[in-house]
Amino acid sequence: MKEKSIGSRLLTAAGLVCNGKTVCDVGCDHGKLSLYLIQSGKAERVIATDINKMPLQKAIDLFAENNISDKAQFYLTDGLQNITDTDDITHVVICGLGGDTMAQIIENAPFIKENRVRLVLLPAQSGNKIRQYLYDHGFGIESETTVGENKKFYSAISAVYTGEKTDYTDFDCFIGKSRYCTDDSAKGYFEMVHTQLKKRQKGFIIDTGVCPEGINDAVEKTEALLRNFE
Ligand SMILES: C[S@@+](CC[C@H](N)C(=O)[O-])C[C@H]1O[C@@H](n2cnc3c(N)ncnc32)[C@H](O)[C@@H]1O
Repeated sequence: MKEKSIGSRLLTAAGLVCNGKTVCDVGCDHGKLSLYLIQSGKAERVIATDINKMPLQKAIDLFAENNISDKAQFYLTDGLQNITDTDDITHVVICGLGGDTMAQIIENAPFIKENRVRLVLLPAQSGNKIRQYLYDHGFGIESETTVGENKKFYSAISAVYTGEKTDYTDFDCFIGKSRYCTDDSAKGYFEMVHTQLKKRQKGFIIDTGVCPEGINDAVEKTEALLRNFE
C-alpha cells in the first residue's frame, strides 16, 4: 500500500501508531489502513473489524491479494465485541466513525483500560463527544494532529488510560490538544469547529452539558487561535 493510495487522513492516524504488536482497526471498511500498518512495519499483526459484511469482505480480499492474510484476523462484529485474545493488543485505531460511537466501542471493551492500550481516534464528526468521554473516563489525551482531506478537516487523537479524570471546558472538548497544531490543516480544523460553536451560540444546536458561558469562551479562544494565521 503506497502512502499516496491510503490518503492523508489515514496516513495521519497511522503516524500515531508506533511499535505496534497487534493493532485493532475498528470499522476497517476497505482494509487500507490495516494493510498499510502491516506493510509499513507499524504493526506485526492486525485485528480488523467491521459491523457490515461487505466492507469486511473487501478487507479480507485486500489482504489475500497482497498475500499477507496470515498477518490479520477479521471479525464481523460491533466494535471490539467477541475479541477475547487481547494480551498482545497494543493499539486500537478507530477512524471515520462519530465520537459517540467511538465512546460506546471503548466503553464496551474493558481490556483497553486494563491493558493500557493506546487509542488512535480520528472522528468523522462529534470530536467534542469523544474528547469529553476521554476526560470523564480517566483517559489522557497525549497529542493531536490535524489533517485535511478532500476539503474536510479532522484531528487524530492519541490517548491512553491513566485512571485520572481530567477537568475540562467546552473549549477542551471542541478543540482539545489540536490547539497546538499550527499548519494549514489546523486553520481548516479551527474554522470548522468555529462554525460548529457559532451554531451552538445561536441556539441552532443544543447539546446536553454545554452552557452558554462555556460556548462563548470556546468561541473566543478559537477565534484567538485563528488570529495566529492572519
Ligand atoms: C466511514 S467508514 C470508515 C472506514 C475507515 N475506517 C476509514 O476511516 O476510512 C465506517 C466503517 O465503519 C463500519 N462501522 C460502523 N459502525 C461500526 C461499529 N460499531 N463497529 C464496527 N464497524 C463499524 C462501517 O460498516 C464502515 O465500514
